[in-house]
Amino acid sequence: MTASFLLEARGIARRDTRSDTVLLEPTDFALAPGERVSVTGASGAGKSVLLRALALLDPLDSGHLVWHGQPVERRAIPRYRRHVAYLRQRPALFDGTVEDNLRYPYSLHAYHDVRFDRVQAVRLAEAAGRASSFLDKRANDLSGGEAQLTALIRVLQLSPEVLLLDEPTASLDPDAARAVEALVTAWFEAGQGARASVWVSHDPAQAARVSTRRLIMQAGRLSDSKQVQVTR
Ligand SMILES: Nc1ncnc2c1ncn2[C@@H]1O[C@H](COP(=O)(O)OP(=O)(O)OP(=O)(O)O)[C@@H](O)[C@H]1O
Ligand SMILES: [Mg+2]
Repeated sequence: MTASFLLEARGIARRDTRSDTVLLEPTDFALAPGERVSVTGASGAGKSVLLRALALLDPLDSGHLVWHGQPVERRAIPRYRRHVAYLRQRPALFDGTVEDNLRYPYSLHAYHDVRFDRVQAVRLAEAAGRASSFLDKRANDLSGGEAQLTALIRVLQLSPEVLLLDEPTASLDPDAARAVEALVTAWFEAGQGARASVWVSHDPAQAARVSTRRLIMQAGRLSDSKQVQVTR
């Protein structure tokens, strides 16, 4: 039997033990193939906490994730992360060229069966409005927006099934932001209905452009945008 969801979160929750505060209320979330979800909400509402929890980057205090109908076990986490790619809010690049950074994932065990494809990387850079010489730039010399583009290309070249995007255009001008939206849309369409994304944005207009379902995060609680109560 084929599972109807790519990814399900069942009762996942996060607390900060030091301050004894709730970071993420127990949350149920299901992502179907072909879905594009956006998450908006105020700064500090817990949007990054949610995405990091879905990417299994931080230990959950309760609940679990289900991938294609199967609970994700600890030993399956590296494989899970290959399919469910998280793009950090602040990109982490090491000192070296852009190309060095793009090549890096292929040195990891999880990607031992695939090879870096420079032609594909140049194509992605060009689609984001950068010349092929962009790959020769030093990572330390990149602007904030260029670092975000590099991190996005590094993820897209690996053809994940699910993309978890944490404000991927926050440091970009409107034209470059549209180019990123187009790149992600091209990735999505190449999956022919098998891929899905969760896009965190502060910009309601962007959220509307990049999603088919809109969610809102408020003080660690995730809800459908239609169900949000306005408290006065
Ligand atoms: N590992 C952690 N330990 C303790 N507190 C944390 C941790 N991670 C996040 N927080 C706190 O949880 C709250 C939510 O943080 P989060 O980064 O998810 O906000 P956000 O909605 O992504 O905000 P922004 O829009 O500014 O990126 C913040 O108050 C933050 O300080
Ligand atoms: Mg955040």
